[in-house]
Amino acid sequence: MKVLVIGSGGREHTLVWKITQSPKASQVYCAPGNAGISQLAQCVNIEADSIEKLIDFTQKEKIDLTVVGPELPLSRGIVNEFNKQGLRIFGPSKEAAEIETSKVFCKFLLKKYNIPTANYQVFQNSQKALDYIKKQTFPLVIKADGLAAGKGVFIVKNLLQARDALDTLMEEKKFGEAGKQVVVEEFLEGEEVSILAFCDGKTVVPMVSSQDHKKIFDHDQGPNTGGMGAYSPVPFYSDEFKKRVLEEILEPTVKGLRIEGKEYKGVLYAGLILTKEGPKVLEFNARFGDPETQVVLPRLKTDLIDILNAVIDDRLHKINIQWEDNAAVCVVVASGGYPGKYQKGKVICGLERLEKMKNMIAFHAGTKFQDDQVITSGGRVLGITAWDDTISKAKERAYKAVKEMYFEDMYYRKDIALKAIK
Ligand code: AMP
Ligand code: GLY
Repeated sequence: MKVLVIGSGGREHTLVWKITQSPKASQVYCAPGNAGISQLAQCVNIEADSIEKLIDFTQKEKIDLTVVGPELPLSRGIVNEFNKQGLRIFGPSKEAAEIETSKVFCKFLLKKYNIPTANYQVFQNSQKALDYIKKQTFPLVIKADGLAAGKGVFIVKNLLQARDALDTLMEEKKFGEAGKQVVVEEFLEGEEVSILAFCDGKTVVPMVSSQDHKKIFDHDQGPNTGGMGAYSPVPFYSDEFKKRVLEEILEPTVKGLRIEGKEYKGVLYAGLILTKEGPKVLEFNARFGDPETQVVLPRLKTDLIDILNAVIDDRLHKINIQWEDNAAVCVVVASGGYPGKYQKGKVICGLERLEKMKNMIAFHAGTKFQDDQVITSGGRVLGITAWDDTISKAKERAYKAVKEMYFEDMYYRKDIALKAIK
């Protein structure tokens, strides 16, 4: 079977790595890929959102299965377009992906189907939003409706900060159309957990739990990033939470989407917060998480291609998905300055030493080849991922590997998975 993975980050490297382990994969391609991916798959120089070019390539190469990594092509309807051509693709339609691409739609769905989430109001006008905010108690959360690369969420502690956030979104229009509407919601307290689930429109099968580390600095300080590390499983995600998340959140969401005529097929990613009253939804994403995928997929025992095909063919209930009883930790190594300005083009040294280490892999994100050397080409550069019997051992293994590599101005958090060990 010929498989094409779309995207170029650590998540896509992990998908390619897992797919190449399947005896069913005869040839694997990635568009556009990165330096690490090019060692496992044939990289194709087509951007992830060039839908027409991707269709041409898929038809010409007779690709049997395409897997979408990032949200942008989903939001532009890549799955709808592939389906129109009769091409097999894993991911939700544009309409179903609205659960990620419109926070207003997501909140509407949650409210309509009684799914636990923060109380909220939607505004199209910043003055009306401010009038409402004046009557609430701080902190509050202000969110852009549309996609904003993880930068459209503001936790505000006073009126001044609320005004600044609304100005950024609605007056300066920093995220364009994405900020045309905003959601203002109550601030929830608790630990965050990411639950990614396979979904074929009817059946939903959660994967093992994971936790992202969104802030740039240790102990969750500083601005948000795409994610600075992750671990799996999450020790405080008890069996009781697990049951409640399935029954109170995942199943009703999938059912609600179906009733709304937006049948959901693909990976449904629930960003949850475990509050005193129970688990609540912070957001949904319409795809695998990054860096959550880097710690979840190494623990998957079942052939990933079998699962992806079962989702496409509506027979997820027929397969038994199995997981290793171990733990995984991913430490993201970033370019100094990220998530602000940073330099590219730094030579990465020591990667060959990592290849000799056991139970670990350096998943590439912003890397490329230049003159036979691997150089940095993005903010998040590598996701050094290790697995072992316990989180503590996996963490030790991952950090040991991080210390074997180097590039100028490299930065990483020193406290990934610490919360799970104490
Ligand atoms: P989102 O993109 O909606 O997941 O928001 C990004 C991050 O902002 C989350 O991972 C949380 O850390 C934080 N956040 C979002 N909504 C809330 C909320 N209602 N209460 C507390 N923190 C929140
Ligand atoms: N780890 C956050 C995300 O994938 O959106």
